Amino acid sequence: MAIEKVLITGASGYLAQFIIERLHTKYQLTLTDIVEPKSDFDEATFIKADVTNAYEIEAACAEQDAVVHLVALVRERHGKPHSLFADVMVKGTWNVAEACVRQGVQKLVNISSISACPPAPGTKLPYQVDAPFQFGGGDLYYALAKHLGEQIGLAYHQAHGLQVIHVRPGVIAGDGLNPGPSAPEVVTNPWFVYVDPRDVAQCVERAIETENVNYGAYNAVAGRTDSRFDWKQAEEELGYSPEHNWDEIPDSD
Ligand SMILES: NC(=O)c1ccc[n+]([C@@H]2O[C@H](COP(=O)([O-])OP(=O)(O)OC[C@H]3O[C@@H](n4cnc5c(N)ncnc54)[C@H](O)[C@@H]3O)[C@@H](O)[C@H]2O)c1
Repeated sequence: MAIEKVLITGASGYLAQFIIERLHTKYQLTLTDIVEPKSDFDEATFIKADVTNAYEIEAACAEQDAVVHLVALVRERHGKPHSLFADVMVKGTWNVAEACVRQGVQKLVNISSISACPPAPGTKLPYQVDAPFQFGGGDLYYALAKHLGEQIGLAYHQAHGLQVIHVRPGVIAGDGLNPGPSAPEVVTNPWFVYVDPRDVAQCVERAIETENVNYGAYNAVAGRTDSRFDWKQAEEELGYSPEHNWDEIPDSD
């Protein structure tokens, strides 16, 4: 069945605004978040809901064809307890997957992260989505919560046939937290971990559109030969074609 109605969770956040901008002329959007969005999107309905509340998020999923799930603890996450990550990111994603099945949603596009599977030492780069990974101590709560979010999506795909596509953005440039890329003095190859939010939005659009993938995980990073995470699989299987690739920074292939 064609996808017409799309719910976006975390719709008041930074990345969501680019996804809304990309999708709003093609789909009937419903936006949900725990806080009101700053910008007004006339065409979209807003539902205030807490993703940790199963009833609220299930109500928001009613009559939707697809859900793009963005809620996570992103900004100022360092120093927060593991229980908060478990609540907002793990329980929240579980609530969303369960709500999708209960409400007959066809497809869940789960915004994951390149952090979901940190490349294990010695792994061949660019990192392929199924290559060995190893968690480190640095950002463990976030990385583990993202990984568990993907496992929840896999379980609901296997158990209920929910179509699930995990989009793993690289470091999103311009979000006010990251200074953005600059060429390192010594080039270790491949080093580039960034993505432009407009390209993440394009990848999300492709993930919604595709009829060929019922389950998959894809890195959404800049289209460079020195990208640390492979984006060719997203190109081949989803038609992802990154357009903002920092051409002013030499591509050290
Ligand atoms: N920013 C990056 O560099 C980056 C990189 C890779 C992946 N991502 C992923 O992209 C997604 C969006 O990130 P962002 O940078 O836009 O973050 P953001 O913090 O701007 O947006 C997150 C949104 O989630 C909402 N939220 C938080 N708790 C909630 C709850 N309990 N119920 C409902 N809504 C709640 C917040 O109000 C906020 O609007 C996240 O899943 C993040 O992990 C971000």
